[in-house]
Amino acid sequence: MIKIGNIQLQDNVLLAPMSGVTDLPFRRLVKSFGAPLLISEMIASRAMILQTRESLKKCQKDPNVYPLSVQLAGCEPAVMAEAARLNEDLGADVIDINFGCPVKKVVNGFAGSALMKDEDLATRIMEAVVKAVKIPVTMKMRLGWNYENLNAPSLAKKAENVGIQMLTVHGRTRCQMYNGNANWELISRTKEAVKIPIIANGDIKNSQDAKSALELSKADGVMIGRAVYGKPWLIAQVAAELKGEQPIATPSIAEQKKIILNHFNEMIDHYGEQTAIPLARKHIGWYSAGIKSSSEFRAKINTTQGADNVRAEIERFYDNACQN
Ligand SMILES: Cc1cc2nc3c(=O)[nH]c(=O)nc-3n(C[C@H](O)[C@H](O)[C@H](O)COP(=O)(O)O)c2cc1C
Repeated sequence: MIKIGNIQLQDNVLLAPMSGVTDLPFRRLVKSFGAPLLISEMIASRAMILQTRESLKKCQKDPNVYPLSVQLAGCEPAVMAEAARLNEDLGADVIDINFGCPVKKVVNGFAGSALMKDEDLATRIMEAVVKAVKIPVTMKMRLGWNYENLNAPSLAKKAENVGIQMLTVHGRTRCQMYNGNANWELISRTKEAVKIPIIANGDIKNSQDAKSALELSKADGVMIGRAVYGKPWLIAQVAAELKGEQPIATPSIAEQKKIILNHFNEMIDHYGEQTAIPLARKHIGWYSAGIKSSSEFRAKINTTQGADNVRAEIERFYDNACQN
């Protein structure tokens, strides 16, 4: 079983942090099915110390959603340390450092995966954050900047030496962005380099993939991102299968209707109607994919205004789907 500091994870299938997806309502929902650790969306450390409205929303804690890991990005050790301290005060259980984000805006600010090119600065950031807080600190990275520089094992050793307690490796390089396939076997080099728990990530869509990723990477656990779109129950299903427990059935269409309506209502509460509806549209699209007439439904939802009207469209679509 994986331990991050004093925190014992219930199992080893983790939900990946995803900006614009793993907000509080989604984390709550995934937790309700079962998930060992919930990681926030990435928060820019500068915005965090300014306590912008957006950053405070992203790190918001629900005491029932334990343990909460708040993910920070940035390239200034002192700012990252301050942002970590602030989150410890706000109730975070773990701090995760992002050295994996390939997005230009983040990389050009020399944060995210750009820091894999400067191991000294990356190490100073990790050290400053570890020293700033009493809660455990973890880190997420890629295999390296490109295939000529697969330095995840070297950075992992430095991370371990400064007190990082768990590492996630997305089996792609920065230059791959999201192209090609994640290479789970290359993650094993990082696993061999350190003693702290290693989580393998990238392209894991089901329990078969999770088994293969664990076998090839020799990692202690797996992290699933995009495959959870519209399937907040997937993490629990994969975990149960890996443990050889009774399979967890996919919720029926009638149950899915309740899940979606509940998720939508939570989003309205969290963001207010104006912000929530555009954000909810993509979740509704993911939930309904594969159900008969879902493209017409999506088109309808994309133009429907007002929370009550959206709720009525969801009900109509799922009630019809139940009858078919
Ligand atoms: C929409 C989106 C947003 C993401 N945001 C973050 C983020 O905030 N922090 C982070 O570490 N990774 C982020 N990622 C990367 C994922 O955590 C994960 O490493 C990647 O999607 C590969 O895993 P998957 O193939 O299971 O999706 C994001 C990925 C996507 C698709």
